[in-house]
Amino acid sequence: MERFSETGIMKGDFWRKIKTINRKMAWLKMVLVAMLMAGIVVGGVFYHLEKQNRLEEERILQQRKIEQEKKAEIERKKLEEEAKMKAEIEAKKRAEAEQARLEAERIEKERRIAQIGQKIGGKKLVALTFDDGPSGATTPKLLQILRDKKVKVTFFVLGRMMQAYPEVVKWEVADGHEVQGHTMYHSDLTKLNEAQIRADIGESDELFRRVLGRTPEMIRPPYGAMNALARQVIARPLMYWSVDALDWKYRNVKTVQKNVLSAVFSGAVVLMHDIHQTTVDAVGGIIDVLRGDGYEFVTVSELAKAKGVSLRAGWDYWGV
Ligand code: NI
Repeated sequence: MERFSETGIMKGDFWRKIKTINRKMAWLKMVLVAMLMAGIVVGGVFYHLEKQNRLEEERILQQRKIEQEKKAEIERKKLEEEAKMKAEIEAKKRAEAEQARLEAERIEKERRIAQIGQKIGGKKLVALTFDDGPSGATTPKLLQILRDKKVKVTFFVLGRMMQAYPEVVKWEVADGHEVQGHTMYHSDLTKLNEAQIRADIGESDELFRRVLGRTPEMIRPPYGAMNALARQVIARPLMYWSVDALDWKYRNVKTVQKNVLSAVFSGAVVLMHDIHQTTVDAVGGIIDVLRGDGYEFVTVSELAKAKGVSLRAGWDYWGV
């Protein structure tokens, strides 16, 4: 039996309505689920395509980078090759110039050796030279001796000494002596780099300008040490010596005199140092003996002129 009640009717209606709505909603749910799934599929496809795209772009960029690197590498190699070739040509040129210079110097040296002992323009000439000064103590004494004996010599002054005693250098010039350069700090030039050589020579040149109003026309390299680089930087005649008094080693008047007088010849350039008292004490005797032997005293430039030698930049002169 069916029991009818107000609430019972209402209950039945309610559930029917719910079921109806549910039926209608099922379609909606299905549509929504279908749309969601379609969305996921489409999204997935888009995502996949996008990823492919990105990877392709990255691949192209990578490819382009590799190509650019390859290109740069080729360019670099080409430049390196060119620089190498250029350097080789330069080195060859330098070697050839050095060879020519050595050959010319050898011929010149032979000519000088053949001249040893011969008179120059009917005269016996000798150039006394003094390095490493001026000294405030010994050089003025030497200058007095040279003045008394009327002898002209050549001083290869050291920059730092010239800086300390500019008045002594001015006195040397005023008395008619020749003053040339011996670098600023007496460094072995073969142990310096280009900038260091330039700095040393530049400082010495500047000092010469300040004290004497000119730069040295020639340089005597400390220790007689020279190489292609220093030769190129100095770009002046390099004046060495042909007779070494070894006065820095033997601080003995008789030994210094013997070393000079036993080796001297007409046209010789004699190396001594005006910073040693023993040397100053030896000079008077050396001058007297040489004068007695008929020698005349000249500066290195006068000797070169008398021999008809024009001094060249970068050439070595072991005597003139
Ligand atoms: Ni020296």
